[in-house]
Amino acid sequence: MNKILLWGFGIAIAIQFIRPDFNNAKVDETIALNTDPKVMSVLKTSCYDCHSNETKYPWYHNVAPMSWVMSGNIDGGRKALDFSNWANIDPKVKLERLKRAKQLVNNELMPKSEYLLMHKNAVLTGEEKKVLEQFFDSQLEKL
Ligand code: HEC
Repeated sequence: MNKILLWGFGIAIAIQFIRPDFNNAKVDETIALNTDPKVMSVLKTSCYDCHSNETKYPWYHNVAPMSWVMSGNIDGGRKALDFSNWANIDPKVKLERLKRAKQLVNNELMPKSEYLLMHKNAVLTGEEKKVLEQFFDSQLEKL
């Protein structure tokens, strides 16, 4: 067999042993976001896989190198904005993230494009963008 092909297989198998740590911490309902069901439904479909502890892991989450990309997105997403930790987010930080969220959603930078490739239902419709914008505005007014 072609040597390069053999190396390719070897590497593809070897990288499977580098496994990121996937886990969902238990969600504390007293601090997690809980708002209008319409808003929750959009957030859960389009944002929660990276911005909460309610991540739904697809079958390929165990397959490197997809697993590395996913764990990077989930760790980064939770660090930036964690809807499961909503009540505990510092108001100053929350203000910034909410303003950013409006821009990102309007400019179609969130949800991330690589995620949308595999999650067509997470693509936001015009109506869903409006629902999110109104939600972000209502939260900004509270701060
Ligand atoms: C595939 C995972 C993923 C999805 C889905 C996703 N995000 Fe993100 N998000 C990230 C990551 C990772 C970051 C950290 C910064 C970066 O890498 O862009 C982030 C950062 C953010 C930030 C902070 C940006 C800043 O500059 O402070 C906001 C706000 C945000 N996302 C909103 C959303 C909203 C709203 C949705 C749903 C409509 C969403 N994201 C969906 C992965 C995701």
